[in-house]
Amino acid sequence: MFVRFALAFALATLACASADAQMRGHGGPVRAVAVSPDGTTAISGSFDTSAIRWSLSRNAAEQVLRFHESAVNAVAFLKDGRIVTGGEDGAIALWKPGQPMPERIFKGHTAPIVALAVSPDGRTVASASWDRTVRLWPVESGAPRVLEGHTQNVNGVAFAPDGKTLISAGYDATLRIWPLDGNGAPIVVTLPTALNAVAVAPDGEIIASGANGRVYFLSSSGQQVGEAEVGETPVISLAASPDGTLVAAAGIRGSVALIDRKTRAVSRTLVGPGLPVWSVAFFPDSKTLLTGGADRMVRRWNAQTGEHIGAVPLTEASDPLAAYAGDRGAEVYRACIACHTLSADEGNRAGPTLAGIFGRKIATLPGYDFSEALKKLDIVWTPETVSKLFEIGPNAYTPGTKMPEQTIGSAEDRKALTDFLKKATAR
Ligand code: HEC
Repeated sequence: MFVRFALAFALATLACASADAQMRGHGGPVRAVAVSPDGTTAISGSFDTSAIRWSLSRNAAEQVLRFHESAVNAVAFLKDGRIVTGGEDGAIALWKPGQPMPERIFKGHTAPIVALAVSPDGRTVASASWDRTVRLWPVESGAPRVLEGHTQNVNGVAFAPDGKTLISAGYDATLRIWPLDGNGAPIVVTLPTALNAVAVAPDGEIIASGANGRVYFLSSSGQQVGEAEVGETPVISLAASPDGTLVAAAGIRGSVALIDRKTRAVSRTLVGPGLPVWSVAFFPDSKTLLTGGADRMVRRWNAQTGEHIGAVPLTEASDPLAAYAGDRGAEVYRACIACHTLSADEGNRAGPTLAGIFGRKIATLPGYDFSEALKKLDIVWTPETVSKLFEIGPNAYTPGTKMPEQTIGSAEDRKALTDFLKKATAR
């Protein structure tokens, strides 16, 4: 059971993470990433149970989406910019950007959802689940269609570019090509290994991969037409570039192979921290790749050269903390920068501005949409209470908060942070 093993492994890393003073936008490994069709926004889903909507131009978190009860395993954009998230809790949520709660919730799966796909016309969301079914959900209204046949966890799902078929990949080593007009039987192709992921290139070629680290290429009707070897360890995530030239295959060992589709050869391997890499997504221009992994970061890569461009939240053109060079507290504050600003002029990001934070009662800043749970708490922010917040973690200190779970283990670092905030947030 590779997938279950991998999940157990990642949760163990999450448990150790609380002792680590380096925090990022997510409080746990990043399990899923997607880029919006216009290339301006990304969405990431995490084991920390939240999803984050990122502005790719400002490199800042714009919204923390909290709804799922456990890990957010899959994320996707609809054509109109709405977002779908799928969770280990078996639920799918449909979000309008900026709205604090989902617009619709799709319920029916009885086990974790691990992959989502949106039909080319944007009207249907397909979900793959460990309950061994694939479901097709009409976005606007109506009951889902349930596709049954896989004898094991379904791990991947993708639509053909013409929208006429849906392809699913399962732990039972089968790839199923389901006709969507009518209720005909699917084409079933058995591959040599348990499958973790499937993608479809713009010309309809099917790409599948899994436990044995090989990537299989099949025609749209299921004939095997090629193969590439990317490593001896399992591939977890696949993406085909929108221009059809590349396939990115991310593995449990953390490397991401870029395969040239014409020659079926690995042309580049992206190496860096963030092992394992759980998810890959191309920008619409095919030139940039996003990865999400165990280091809790969303990272950007140049897909042509394989160069690391940087982590999404940390690539601002000018360093906003340049004025505080050498200040330990400013370094600790880097973990907050993706979601908070220090001055009122910079406004709110995913979290409220921290300008004037000391002396302010919790959840009272005008113009920011705080969680209801926070408004009921009786906390006044002081260096002591902010320190406590990150000593025991937001979930314990402010139950119901949208802020992803994170702690600062060292008392010295908490003191440095609050000393820094005293200077940097004074009105
Ligand atoms: C991924 C985004 C994210 C990160 C990273 C983050 N926060 Fe937050 N923070 C939020 C959100 C969202 C809220 C609002 C919570 C709510 O309404 O439920 C919040 C609320 C707060 C509040 C309460 C504000 C108020 O007016 O009541 C404080 C204080 C705070 N954060 C401090 C920090 C500090 C310090 C860091 C870094 C160590 C940090 N946050 C990192 C998203 C984040």
